[in-house]
Amino acid sequence: MRVVLVLAFCFIGTVSTSPLRYDSIYSFGDSLADTGNLLLSGAVANPVIGKLPYGETFFKRPTGRCSDGRLVIDFIAEACGLPYVPPYLSLGKGKKVQHGVNFAVAGATALEAQLFYDKGIGQMLWTNHSLSVQLGWFKNLKSTLCNTKKDCGNYFKRSLFLVGEIGGNDYNYAFFAGTNMKQMQAVVPLVVEAIVGATSMLIEEGAAELVVPGNLPIGCSAVYLTFFQSPNKADYDQNGCLKPHNSFSKYHNAQLKLALEKLRHKYPHAKIIYADYYGVAKQMIHAPLHHGFSNGVLRACCGGGGPYNFNISARCGHTGSKSCKSPSTYGNWDGIHLTEASYRYIAMGLINGPFTSPPL
Ligand SMILES: *[C@@H]1O[C@H](CO)[C@@H](O)[C@H](O)[C@H]1NC(C)=O
Ligand SMILES: *[C@@H]1O[C@H](CO)[C@@H](O)[C@H](O)[C@H]1NC(C)=O
Repeated sequence: MRVVLVLAFCFIGTVSTSPLRYDSIYSFGDSLADTGNLLLSGAVANPVIGKLPYGETFFKRPTGRCSDGRLVIDFIAEACGLPYVPPYLSLGKGKKVQHGVNFAVAGATALEAQLFYDKGIGQMLWTNHSLSVQLGWFKNLKSTLCNTKKDCGNYFKRSLFLVGEIGGNDYNYAFFAGTNMKQMQAVVPLVVEAIVGATSMLIEEGAAELVVPGNLPIGCSAVYLTFFQSPNKADYDQNGCLKPHNSFSKYHNAQLKLALEKLRHKYPHAKIIYADYYGVAKQMIHAPLHHGFSNGVLRACCGGGGPYNFNISARCGHTGSKSCKSPSTYGNWDGIHLTEASYRYIAMGLINGPFTSPPL
């Protein structure tokens, strides 16, 4: 069953007049998509993602991915029979790009890093390699791949562009710095504009098929559940997630979808796909046992104690933390990021449907 669906994903369009097969993937985003850039950038001193247990499940070594194994982008690459997408910062001078490049950097924001410095919360940033910096890297690389607009359109015809997930950190940094919900809502149009602006720029540069993911239900994330623990039962939904924060994610997603709809009118020749990370994660969160998460999806596998096993003084990889025995039975990896099992679940929801619109 899965094989058939996976093939359908890669050879989508073979029944129509113009056969289309992805033979490369270009990706932008944050830790949900970073396959090594933050680690290679050297921005963080002694980064835990450069040590086990990060990578313990699949690669058996730390790769710079913020998980125990593969990410959504890795499962998409597998589904297309492509190699894992190399991080941009691993490309040596003159090394040939064959199947795409990953520009995503863990900790990256959709908005300019400088904005966070201006607001006095810049010290929270893991990286200054925001979405616009990643687009700059892409433009540099592109000039070595193709020249004219027509040439580039041809070059990227069989490429899949993943524009995110990005934007989650813009909210994380602000929420964790104590910004209230009302002020947060005012940030949403700016973040959406940055994502949509990047999407249109990529189309102008020749991208024909793009996936733009929304935000995850952040109210179900161990770090949010820990920081925003509430004595008021009414703040939690039936799955134990924080309602106000999930509503915020939905608010962002609704705005993003509206903006993408406008973009589809502007660029009718491009295929602009919204990826419903919220919907697919919610399905998993609603019935964790049914999907193999016997240890639930709210408690982190790797951490240093507390009700959700997220402890800011003993985060995964730091002294005082430890990793669980079977990460595949947990939804949450380190309190902030998800396990490989969760990323697989999300990726299959995108590849096999119905969490992409229009479908991949
Ligand atoms: C990011 O930018 C700020 C402000 O320009 C600078 O102070 C800081 O050193 C930069 N951080 C990194 C990791 O490059
Ligand atoms: C969090 O980690 C610190 C440092 O290891 C430890 O002293 C503390 O007891 C931990 N908190 C919980 C709730 O486990």
